[in-house]
Amino acid sequence: MSKIHAAITAVNGYVPDYILTNQELETKVDTNDEWIVSRTGIKERRILKGEGKATSDLAVPAVQGLLEKRGITAEDIELIIFCTSTPDMLFPATANILADKIGAKNAWGYDLQAACSGFLFGLTTGAQFIESGKHKNVLVVGADKMSSIVNYEDRNTCILFGDGCGCVLLEANDEGNGLIDSVLKTDGSGTPYLNLQGGGSLNPASHHTVDAGMHYAYQEGRTVFKFAVTNMANVAADVMERNNLSSDDIAWLVPHQANKRIIDATAERAGLPEEKVMVNIHKYGNTTSATIPLCLWEWEDKLKKGDNLLLAAFGGGFTWGSIYLKWAYTKA
Ligand code: UT7
Repeated sequence: MSKIHAAITAVNGYVPDYILTNQELETKVDTNDEWIVSRTGIKERRILKGEGKATSDLAVPAVQGLLEKRGITAEDIELIIFCTSTPDMLFPATANILADKIGAKNAWGYDLQAACSGFLFGLTTGAQFIESGKHKNVLVVGADKMSSIVNYEDRNTCILFGDGCGCVLLEANDEGNGLIDSVLKTDGSGTPYLNLQGGGSLNPASHHTVDAGMHYAYQEGRTVFKFAVTNMANVAADVMERNNLSSDDIAWLVPHQANKRIIDATAERAGLPEEKVMVNIHKYGNTTSATIPLCLWEWEDKLKKGDNLLLAAFGGGFTWGSIYLKWAYTKA
């Protein structure tokens, strides 16, 4: 019997309607469209507006659409892995909140926090439950309401991030398609360069943490850029080498969308031309855990059964990694 792989059998996404353009940001901070586009590739991002709206509200329409596409109900889901850095609350897990909102009565679940690498960590983790035979249907969600932790008076960060959700269903595949290999890394010495210090057990919320802006995402951009550009390219190259893949073998590179220059460096290192690289950073900015599944969702019509995909990400932690997977279906 051939090995069971965990394959993505459906993908969906959701981005909120409100478009925050570079032009609108020019009215808030000392920046300009030319700087943002040339340094990052971002033209606009989506923002979830409205009182009482949280990350789970990005996930509900994405997951409901996913279930409809696959022709299953929420009660068929056995496990929800919710990858996010902006959970609705510190606890309970947003996985639980989502399960309640969609009626996933038979699922257990948990949140997974690996910043911008969250979706890759979640996919690899979810795959174990399929490969072991423990579960038939695993839902992996990548969702972030980054606007809830962005300081719109800080030009270093407010131009970068947006809100969105992408999600996939994992099921068993015995045709050789699905997740084939992954290399995932963490290095906590990166903590000072990309973090959100307030509200955790180290710095519980207080007047001081609010006054000091500790509930906003902080990034030392230049340092993170240096690590990202090297590590994301290296880990993707490692995965190719381990699996004897040449650039001709790869149908698509699916990179985390943090900066177009980091994407270009990763593609160049992998020897891939731009026609093989999924890029939507200009429309959505950096949606953290959602970038990679949003790309898969937008490119779904172009993907063919058996295509070799190389996923790669780098983010806070530091965390980074790359996954090699064979796409399991051609959309009818
Ligand atoms: O997804 C998680 C992982 N995160 C990343 O991968 C992000 C990695 N970092 C980056 O993408 C880039 O470092 C940024 C896009 C954040 C910044 O680009 P940079 O080319 O590294 O710019 P910089 O921080 O070195 O700043 C260059 C100049 C500075 O001015 P001086 O000191 O040279 O006079 C900044 O003050 O650009 C200035 N600057 C801006 N100017 C206009 C910084 N932000 C802005 C802005 N508009 N929004």
